[in-house]
Amino acid sequence: MSFFRRGWPTLPDIRLVEVDGRRWVVKDWRHRSLPRRLLQGRFMLKREYFFLRSLEGIDGVPRCEGFPDADSLAIEHFEGRNASVVYPQDYPRGFFDHLEALVRAIHARGVAHGDLDQDDNVMVRADGSPGVIDFGNALRESWFPLIRMWHDLLVRHDLQCVARLRGRFEIDPVNPNPAPPPDLLSWQRRVLVFFRKMERNEPVRVHGVGDNVS
Ligand SMILES: Nc1ncnc2c1ncn2[C@@H]1O[C@H](COP(=O)(O)OP(=O)(O)O)[C@@H](O)[C@H]1O
Ligand SMILES: [Mg+2]
Repeated sequence: MSFFRRGWPTLPDIRLVEVDGRRWVVKDWRHRSLPRRLLQGRFMLKREYFFLRSLEGIDGVPRCEGFPDADSLAIEHFEGRNASVVYPQDYPRGFFDHLEALVRAIHARGVAHGDLDQDDNVMVRADGSPGVIDFGNALRESWFPLIRMWHDLLVRHDLQCVARLRGRFEIDPVNPNPAPPPDLLSWQRRVLVFFRKMERNEPVRVHGVGDNVS
């Protein structure tokens, strides 16, 4: 067993676990305080479980195995690398088109990811295809007007993040300078940044994929 990341008082441990030759990522809140586990951990795990289940069958979204215990969640491990550590020349041709199609397929199931501005939530899998992970902050569409507005905003934000990744990393010999996509309005960006800052907790140390520290 190895760690992707040791937790922080406000974050779960993330472990890589191998069972019968298959690898799972386990998000584990067991070593956090009791109130944290009961009030935040279980809620976050159930949310992620719910989203992964509703996205089941989409190639590029990890399958969810379920709860090994009440405070952990087992998720299919994707072999590959986080987009944050891949050099532009190492992206396979067409990667960003596939990523955009993947994100649109997620949206078509009524789910906005909402956290794709974190490059490490996008993966370049071992076979070169894109993967999207970390659905803890996702949002399902709703008839309720405020939630619907927020969901629609996150849908646009997801696509914007894909476009930004494409702009930063895609080497396209045919069209080296594609027109930038329309940006969010400034008030929308400010609201989004405000909530992101409230949500974000920095871990003590972030280990790279596959770092084996225990
Ligand atoms: N299904 C997965 N396959 C491969 N690596 C994963 C997977 N899920 C998480 N990881 C690794 O663990 C890191 C943290 O997981 P993530 O779900 O993004 O947690 P957090 O909500 O803390 O950002 C990811 O950046 C990635 O390196
Ligand atoms: Mg993440």
